Amino acid sequence: MNSKRVALSLLIVFCLNISTVFCQDKPSIFNESSTAKKERMKWWTDARFGMFIHWGLYSLGARHEWLKHNEHMTNEEYQKYFTLFNPDHFEPGKWADEAKAAGMKYAVLTTKHHDGFCLFDSKFTDYKATNSPAKRDLVREYVNAFRAKGMKIGFYYSLLDWHHPDYTMDDVHPLTQTDTTQANYDRLNKGRDMAKYRKYLRDQITELLTNYGKIDVLWLDWTWGDDSKRGKHAEDWGAVELIKLVRKLQPGIIVNNRLGLNKYSDGGDFETPEQVSTAELEKYKGKTWETCQTFSGSWGYYRDETSWKTHRKLLDLLITSVANGGNLILNVGPTARGEFDYRAKYSLDSLSVWMHENSRSIYGCTTAPDGFEAPKDTKLTYNPGTKRLYVHIYNFVANSKLILPGYAGKIKYAQLLNDESEIAFTTEGNDVVLKMPKVAPPYEIPVIELFL
Ligand code: GLC
Repeated sequence: MNSKRVALSLLIVFCLNISTVFCQDKPSIFNESSTAKKERMKWWTDARFGMFIHWGLYSLGARHEWLKHNEHMTNEEYQKYFTLFNPDHFEPGKWADEAKAAGMKYAVLTTKHHDGFCLFDSKFTDYKATNSPAKRDLVREYVNAFRAKGMKIGFYYSLLDWHHPDYTMDDVHPLTQTDTTQANYDRLNKGRDMAKYRKYLRDQITELLTNYGKIDVLWLDWTWGDDSKRGKHAEDWGAVELIKLVRKLQPGIIVNNRLGLNKYSDGGDFETPEQVSTAELEKYKGKTWETCQTFSGSWGYYRDETSWKTHRKLLDLLITSVANGGNLILNVGPTARGEFDYRAKYSLDSLSVWMHENSRSIYGCTTAPDGFEAPKDTKLTYNPGTKRLYVHIYNFVANSKLILPGYAGKIKYAQLLNDESEIAFTTEGNDVVLKMPKVAPPYEIPVIELFL
């Protein structure tokens, strides 16, 4: 070999090594192929729309589910809610009806939130609904009611616990808010043992995933970023062992990404952008994700909250999620009496009217294929199974012409989705021109269905 050749082969070997270093996949915990994962998650990616339910003792305080933290309350101060929790209007069948009518296909209920109160009958704590005046396993009633209506069942479970005697201090614990000195942490941590709390997590997750039949989604919440000094990380939860346990108990389950296992390729099934704007959703294209959003600012019932999202805003969140290939889970915070707030009911009812006629542009849909540009003031979704493209019209002008740029020769038929009424179109150069109806359809955002 001459020296040039030697240099060239050395260069090739060097480049190959570099590329394996940089392109190396993250390590995995399980051995699941991407096809198997897709199959496991198919119902969820097709569903696109779910209901989050944040309900617990904080509903009585009615001023944010973090009120124990925000007001630095001790267990004793918070106890009044436990002794009063008696949801006399709790009828989960009604919740399921509302969710289903709004077009949601799955629900995720807070079985335990950060305050540590369990809505389920756990053997491992007394701090549970069965010991409160509610006197029943509210999780069981939720599961039975939602399952009976054909909804998929999800459990939210808080990794944080501001009530458990072994849960150590961190920078969001209610008791560390007024005195952040190390001395205070040390004083409060005396006698606390995270190893015992880790066992508690495992025991409770085992109960939840054993005693309630098939559970479709587990939504664990949450873990601090790596740079946080006084936060909790994957090791604090025994996260790898925990997710192995979860998958052993419920092999088909779908788990979110908040266990702190991001360094693994399969430490969670989907990303969870929280309360982000529709513009931000674009950067999740190509990933598997679900954006969680509130109707107003708080997850738990907040009586005096006024920042309720409009019907248009909610629709935009749903459409934009699907347009970027993701799911939307919209949160309801029922009152302490166990009912949906009137504003939530109103929002759900408006969504149900839209979804009744237009849900075909949501279910089973995703990002539009390359080569289809969204005309001004529209957003596109696409169903790859039926090969139909949906144009969501944000600014409907009756009797106008809607230009679809570069669509010439790509469209077989066009109709308004809500009533399947034909939309006439012509081809002008590279474009298709749709003739809009003379009368505006009665929807905030009407949809046109194009057959490709
Ligand atoms: C945050 C909050 C929590 C809420 C959750 C929903 O993690 O701590 O209150 O349950 O987001 O995504």
